[in-house]
Amino acid sequence: MPFEPVKYTDARSFIKETRARLRDAFSGKKGFCYDSGGVDSTTCAKLVIGAVGEKGLTNILFDHGGMRKDEPKNVLFSLNKECDIPTIFRDYSEFFLRRVMLAGTDADKKRDYGVSGSYFPLAIKDAKRTGARYFVQGTIGPDVIETVDKGLKRQHNVILEKQRRMFQNAGVEVVEPLIDLTKDKVRKVARELRLPKSVTERKPFPGPGLHCRDIGQVTRESMDALREADSIVMKDLESYTAEVSKEDYQCLCALMKNKTVETAIGKDYGFKIEGRPRMTIDKVTGMVNNQRTYTHMLLIDAPDANIPELVNASKEIVADNLDGGIGRVAVLLACNRSGKYNAFLKSILTKDFKTAKAAPIERPKLEKVAEQLLIEGPESIGQVYYDVTDKPPGTIEFE
Ligand code: XMP
Repeated sequence: MPFEPVKYTDARSFIKETRARLRDAFSGKKGFCYDSGGVDSTTCAKLVIGAVGEKGLTNILFDHGGMRKDEPKNVLFSLNKECDIPTIFRDYSEFFLRRVMLAGTDADKKRDYGVSGSYFPLAIKDAKRTGARYFVQGTIGPDVIETVDKGLKRQHNVILEKQRRMFQNAGVEVVEPLIDLTKDKVRKVARELRLPKSVTERKPFPGPGLHCRDIGQVTRESMDALREADSIVMKDLESYTAEVSKEDYQCLCALMKNKTVETAIGKDYGFKIEGRPRMTIDKVTGMVNNQRTYTHMLLIDAPDANIPELVNASKEIVADNLDGGIGRVAVLLACNRSGKYNAFLKSILTKDFKTAKAAPIERPKLEKVAEQLLIEGPESIGQVYYDVTDKPPGTIEFE
């Protein structure tokens, strides 16, 4: 019997009905999940285990090379010990890193060559290896809307028609219990399943992980530098963002080669800019009039301007200069050498991740985080910026 996702009324009935339908659908056959440790996939795995037991599910955490420092170890521990979901580990990091490095600088190509392009073929292989008839994944409603309907995002786990046929031909059935849910509903289900707070409240992390935060050409060295930088800044950045957040938020650190050209932005935006503004050679994603853009970032040194006024000005700057290829604005926080990379801190406040405000963290706090990164971080990072662009016109991620 094919699995039909349950319409959500409340978390308890959703769990009960979903488990009943999973039991009927599986009817003694086996399934497997790819579980990143995030709330969606872990909720799925827990639903399945509760329905068909540990013997009916192979839960796999795989490293795609874009994970954070110590993340494979920490997530494996959390799944096995705290969530009580027996989970095995597969290291595919070298496979994915080589492919992403081959893709060059184009963001779409990086996703095609990386997790997005290989995820489903890999799932078919793993279904065979584990003897599974069902591939259970935690894709949620907004993933599909933003990827398929609007073309705004490139979500690795959204199945298109071509891939559905691929699964059919391989005799593997895809089961998506959360496909009609929004993130807040998934969190409610996860809490009702008594998953630990580290899972139920975990902030989103993109499928390709740090690969899409290593802007432009990825190398082993740049990935190592980014992983290290991410591990240094994230705790303080999250705590400063939580202080100014009323709803949900997300923080991230990205890295880009320090290759820029001087540019002009035409008019005075109400604060003094030191030297000439610069524009990055590498491009980043944005969203304007509900369309995806792919533009350069404007880098400015405006030491006397506070973050709210920069956030306000960035809207105007982008509107005035989008035709000139500028889609996002970042302000210099700290600089102490001519490093090969620029690091970008980004913190956003949001309700639903479809739109977002750059977090108005007090500038001295951001500068403290940036200076700490320059002191403790890789020598290759010479400048640290804060991205002051809202979504729209930016996106939360950089690629
Ligand atoms: P954007 O960059 O589209 O991000 O404004 C919106 C939210 O979605 C997350 N995101 C992703 N999550 N695979 C994921 O699983 C992806 O490819 C992906 N791209 C963006 C992003 O972190 C933010 O929470």
